[in-house]
Amino acid sequence: MEQYVIKGGQPLVGEVEIGGAKNAALAILAAAIMTDDTVVVENIPDVNDINVLLDAIGGIGASVKRIDRHTVQINAKSIRNFNVEYDYIKKIRASYYLLGALLGKYNHAEVALPGGCNIGSRPIDQHLKGFRRLGAEIEIEHGKVIAEAENFKGSHIYFDVVTVGATINVMMAATMAEGLTILENVAKEPHVVDVANFLNSMGANIRGAGTDVIKIRGVKRLHGTQYSVIPDQIEAGTFMYAAAATKGDITVLNVIPKHLEATIAKLLDIGCEVEEFDDAVRVISKGNLKNTQVKTLPYPGFPTDMQPQMGVILSLCNGTSTITESIFENRFKYLAELERMGAKVKVDGNSATIQGVEKLSGARINALDLRAGAALCVAGLTAEGYTIVDDIVYIQRGYENFEEKLRSLGAAIQKVSSEKEIQKFKLKVG
Ligand code: UD1
Repeated sequence: MEQYVIKGGQPLVGEVEIGGAKNAALAILAAAIMTDDTVVVENIPDVNDINVLLDAIGGIGASVKRIDRHTVQINAKSIRNFNVEYDYIKKIRASYYLLGALLGKYNHAEVALPGGCNIGSRPIDQHLKGFRRLGAEIEIEHGKVIAEAENFKGSHIYFDVVTVGATINVMMAATMAEGLTILENVAKEPHVVDVANFLNSMGANIRGAGTDVIKIRGVKRLHGTQYSVIPDQIEAGTFMYAAAATKGDITVLNVIPKHLEATIAKLLDIGCEVEEFDDAVRVISKGNLKNTQVKTLPYPGFPTDMQPQMGVILSLCNGTSTITESIFENRFKYLAELERMGAKVKVDGNSATIQGVEKLSGARINALDLRAGAALCVAGLTAEGYTIVDDIVYIQRGYENFEEKLRSLGAAIQKVSSEKEIQKFKLKVG
């Protein structure tokens, strides 16, 4: 089992290149099967979640070719199988995007029901409601969603909750439904817009992505395209917050600063300096950071995927801060790990009170989930002594070359898989 060993205390300084957005890429690769023509997708991050989805796409018969590390070519002409197995779904929930893509193109899909991730119950009722409103018959049998749509027709759908997954999934399916579909109370995240732009580049007719209402006029067929995925705002935010926490100075390159507004606003609140450029953002922290209040909200609010990274910073700010988590009900587990590193926290339902401490101290901790894992590594980078992070497989799901990028900024971090390697690291860094 691989782990990270980290020696904390070093400010992170330098520039780091940000990759393509994992969550946009997952939906775009699924949508790429909606044409018989060849689709080339660029700026795909080389992370485990993407590789599992590509296996799932290959598994239903499409041809999947990696042209280089970040470019994938997909041709779905050879798809004969509309059944996505639990093996893929249990590894990544996002393979449920194949439900919308298969239904839209072939009017039939069988996809295993996704299990939960570690951050709370994650139902798919809004996805299913949307498909039903478009005319699909849906049954749940033997742990599978079996969806059939003889007459896929445009419809007016109002989502009961703002959900990224359901917005994208239903938008994909409606792309090839007959007539006009109007989706209301939709998610406005940059990756929703990116998927809409991708589908439009294949000949879809989608308007309004990025606002509360998306209108889709169905088309008979989609065609091939070449498309480049937007930069990953969460990867960028994670490095920006690593600068804040370690009293460092980091410039994230290849980003869209507009997508980072809520992330930047909180850095300014606590007293960091932030410089914005056309496609880069520089964060400078001189320490002595102030407390603040944070509430996670759908975009353009503060992203839930940045909440653990924020929690780590707040554990080192002066005074008492609060976090309210309003998207997922179980996203504070990492605070128990942080407590083991000396943080002072109190969790009450969906809010947490964090009283800043002078320093964290290194400990053996568990990554728990993707973003919590990255946040706890940042905690380790600020801490006195050594931190060992277990279960880094979660981090590898969504961060490409995480430790290499941190090392290039001056971090003492290494991937290890034995006690002997940990001892060797300790001898090396002193
Ligand atoms: C996506 C992101 C995830 C991010 C989340 C919120 C991907 C692969 N993952 O997850 O990283 O944390 O958006 O920005 O893109 N809900 C329902 N019924 C549904 C669907 C969702 O009640 O049918 C609820 C969820 O329980 C949650 C809220 O809606 O409370 C938002 O979930 P959603 O935006 O759908 O998250 P995901 O798409 O799963």
